Amino acid sequence: MKVVAVNNIYKSFGDNIALNNLSLGIEEGEIFGLLGPNGAGKSTTINILSGLLNQDKGDISIFNKNIRMHLNEIKQNMGVVPQDLAIFEELTAYENISFFASLYGIQAKERNKKTIEALAFVGLEEKAKEKVKSFSGGMKRRLNIACGIAHKPRLIIMDEPTIGIDPQSRNHILNSIKVLNQKGASIIYTTHYMEEAEALCDRMAIIDKGCVIASGTAESLRDIISDKNTVFIGLRDISKVDESILLNIKGVEDIYFKDGVLQVVSKKEVICLDKVIAYLAEAGASIMDVKTKSPNLEDVFLNLTGRSLRD
Ligand SMILES: Nc1ncnc2c1ncn2[C@@H]1O[C@H](COP(=O)(O)OP(=O)(O)O)[C@@H](O)[C@H]1O
Ligand SMILES: [Mg+2]
Repeated sequence: MKVVAVNNIYKSFGDNIALNNLSLGIEEGEIFGLLGPNGAGKSTTINILSGLLNQDKGDISIFNKNIRMHLNEIKQNMGVVPQDLAIFEELTAYENISFFASLYGIQAKERNKKTIEALAFVGLEEKAKEKVKSFSGGMKRRLNIACGIAHKPRLIIMDEPTIGIDPQSRNHILNSIKVLNQKGASIIYTTHYMEEAEALCDRMAIIDKGCVIASGTAESLRDIISDKNTVFIGLRDISKVDESILLNIKGVEDIYFKDGVLQVVSKKEVICLDKVIAYLAEAGASIMDVKTKSPNLEDVFLNLTGRSLRD
């Protein structure tokens, strides 16, 4: 069963088209990644799914119910962890979670138990009575998560939960997501870190400029570029390189320059590296090193858009 079905949605802010015919389907029980560079439209999608914004066009159902018609009912089974921290600095960790649990409709008699469970889940039980303003960034992120999951939702939506935190908190968060999923929650996980999505998500959609440019498992996405080879050539003097000459070498499909490294994408079946190297040597670009690596989702994005994810 699909827990979330997003059909052809559009959203503009003035002249800025944030979502441009975006469609997604999330199956019950999966961790689904929403992947894309800053400004791709991830948070806008999440804000529409959680009822904070309305789409201009298109329809969305969650748990097979239209969100415009059944938002309150849907919300009780959905937990949202927003990108911008939504916690109160002057309240304690306990008070924050308890407050959000009440917003999600948890009755007073159950709230204490659920709050304590959520505190323990994110490893903050010892900090229950401390005000949030004394917390580190990672602790605040963890509390932000606890606030979104204390009511044990069937669907959890997390918007870049690991942004700007220390590696330890990050690992804690990534493991927590796996545990929540093992306990049965479906999860939408938003990130611009490709390696996180690769490690965590069953399936994902790569979004760019408000629409889905590719979707599937990490493996199926990597297959998009499986007939290609990428070689990284470190050069001392990149200014000596004439792009058009390289692009004219048979088998060379594309080239990119980044941080003094020339990236050459070629067809797997055509051997062209010897010609590339010969040209670079002749041009006096001084080859420092040559590396190959197996393609990752970052390369898929680069291949589909011509841009790097983090630029
Ligand atoms: N409230 C808003 N007002 C105006 N523009 C917005 C607003 N929210 C988002 N946008 C614009 O919509 C686009 C998508 O933004 P967003 O969904 O936040 O991207 P992401 O979360 O993938 O970084 C961007 O161009 C952003 O500037
Ligand atoms: Mg965002």
